[in-house]
Amino acid sequence: MAPRELPEKAKIVYEVIRGRRSIRNYIDKEIPWDHLKLVLEAGLWAPSGSNLQSREFILITDKDVIRAVKLVSPGLYGNPQAIIVLCYNKKIAVKGGRLGELMAVMDTAMAAQNMMLMAYSLGIGSCPILSFNKQALKKILDIPDHVEPVMLLSLGYPKEWPKPPSRKTLNKVVHVNAYGYNLSSSIDNSK
Ligand SMILES: Cc1cc2nc3c(=O)[nH]c(=O)nc-3n(C[C@H](O)[C@H](O)[C@H](O)COP(=O)(O)O)c2cc1C
Repeated sequence: MAPRELPEKAKIVYEVIRGRRSIRNYIDKEIPWDHLKLVLEAGLWAPSGSNLQSREFILITDKDVIRAVKLVSPGLYGNPQAIIVLCYNKKIAVKGGRLGELMAVMDTAMAAQNMMLMAYSLGIGSCPILSFNKQALKKILDIPDHVEPVMLLSLGYPKEWPKPPSRKTLNKVVHVNAYGYNLSSSIDNSK
């Protein structure tokens, strides 16, 4: 539950971040187009390195194409209503110089997170998927050489919202001011 005395906006954001889950079981119910569009738009509004926006999204709603993508994607579970393939355009990424490719991959990840949170806020489940055969996917979707698929995002209404897998504690992952100084030894919680 969100800490008390948070502004309303913070309470909503906190709930959305905490409540989102990776969904691998979907019911057979279509996602309205305007909601899919909102999810795609959320990806567009994610930050991108130098605002290059090398990202491109392939939306798949055709059941036959979904079936074909599933066959080459061992990490894709359940029967989603839609799949978004998050790609980047190498011709644009190259403008980022030495960091171009890394930035482009990060940009797609940021877009994916925005999309997942937007989806969750609309009651739609999602799952990010890296386990897929890139070459086979490119063939199925006619993706040209200069476009690199990075991640699949499956979308659909969940059979259920699973319990959250555990997370490490902040103490384990946060270092304060220098490596090795954890939160509990560095912050005076009495203030
Ligand atoms: C980079 C990345 C790749 C992932 N690849 C897969 C995948 O191929 N198949 C899958 O079912 N889940 C995949 N996941 C989902 C993770 O398993 C999931 O986020 C993690 O177990 C935590 O669960 P939660 O998302 O419900 O909090 C991936 C997540 C990330 C961030």
